[in-house]
Amino acid sequence: MAVVTRAVKGTHDLFREDLAYHRTLLNAARRWLEAAGADEIATPIFEFSEVFERGVGASSDIVQKEMFTFTDRGGRALALRPEGTAGVVRAYLEHGMKVWPQPVRLWYAGPMFRAERPQKGRQRQFHQFGYEVLGAGEPELDAEAVALSYWILRGVGLNRLSLKVGSVGDREDRERYNAYLRELLTPHTARLSEDSQRRLETNPMRILDSKAEPDRKLLEELKVRPMLDFLGPEAKAHFEAVQERLRRLNVPYEIDPTIVRGLDYYARTAWELHHELLGAQSALGGGGRYDGLAELLGGPPVPGVGWAVGVERTVLAMKAEGLSPAPEPPLDLYIVALAAELVPEALRAASRFWPELRVQYGVKPRKPGKALQEAERKGARFAGLLGPDEAASGRLTVKHLRTGEQRTLDIEEVKEWVRGGGS
Ligand code: HAM
Repeated sequence: MAVVTRAVKGTHDLFREDLAYHRTLLNAARRWLEAAGADEIATPIFEFSEVFERGVGASSDIVQKEMFTFTDRGGRALALRPEGTAGVVRAYLEHGMKVWPQPVRLWYAGPMFRAERPQKGRQRQFHQFGYEVLGAGEPELDAEAVALSYWILRGVGLNRLSLKVGSVGDREDRERYNAYLRELLTPHTARLSEDSQRRLETNPMRILDSKAEPDRKLLEELKVRPMLDFLGPEAKAHFEAVQERLRRLNVPYEIDPTIVRGLDYYARTAWELHHELLGAQSALGGGGRYDGLAELLGGPPVPGVGWAVGVERTVLAMKAEGLSPAPEPPLDLYIVALAAELVPEALRAASRFWPELRVQYGVKPRKPGKALQEAERKGARFAGLLGPDEAASGRLTVKHLRTGEQRTLDIEEVKEWVRGGGS
């Protein structure tokens, strides 16, 4: 019989150090985003496939090749969420958040699923935290969103970031740009990769994001004009206003005239945060404005702007810069019974400290010397020894492992001593 002791390719268990990095990032995200007035939202990890087909877009790689889809027992087509935005907008519409004071600021964190080829920085189950601002279209909101994504990453100590900001214009602008690309590229169809030949039909802009060598070569030869040249007056004014706000906030950005995001719902502002020490998968996060998304899902028009950051990639970036996760609080006290029949009493003693203090007890009796060693190995600040005398008097002999000071005290006194740090 095959042994099931391996996680599925592209998925990972998270514990100890890696989880500490994740927690550091999520705490930073929560702190910043809640300070800026965001409410947390948790949407289901699966939705009707249509939410993503219509939201993220049928011509996107995500929908075309990367969704984990399945049919439930009732014959409904479902998909594990490849990203968070479409579900958040679906929830906004479903729960009538339109009647809340606008804009509604929401943040979320959780696992996302994409059936991509696993490699460093690319997994099939990965984690994102994200921010979505719905119900208003002012350029301040784009700038606020960009700035928060940048500040959170700076706030955990990352220095080697580059923030690339562009605009993909309004729908008519993209239609004009796609028409331009079609005209330019159609005579060279045969030279395009198979994927890009398909994109030429469905959404030529996506060709610009292709990593395939023949596509890259052709694009270079043809000196393709960037999307930014095709912005209409309104999208252009909006982009300029966003940049003015970013300068006002002292957020250092570069303009990327060619930015193409991997999702079809974007309109106007689009940005990505890259890390200079990561290789092929250098995008830590990205986002943009998506004013048409609610309508794609069948709702009324709702302007929106937001972003998501990939947690695993950001952890790689933190490691590359030598950054540590925020330290976890150590074990306060480790209690050891000196005889087998006293182990239940060790459990009871430990329970009296919970949840104010972090206290563990040993399930095996130990001699005092071994007990102290075990407490040291656990990283505890104090060791508690429970022998027959202590058990009889309801006390504990406690040793402060750093100073070596030892006292026999009742539980309330131990609490006080431990809380006071051992002074
Ligand atoms: P995205 O650019 O597709 O945007 O993903 C955001 C981030 O998620 C990426 O920059 C990357 O760090 C991480 N990521 C994506 N795919 C993988 C993967 N297979 N393995 C590891 N990390 C990955 C979105 O998802 C949009 N929903 C962002 C957004 C929110 N736009 C508006 N609102």
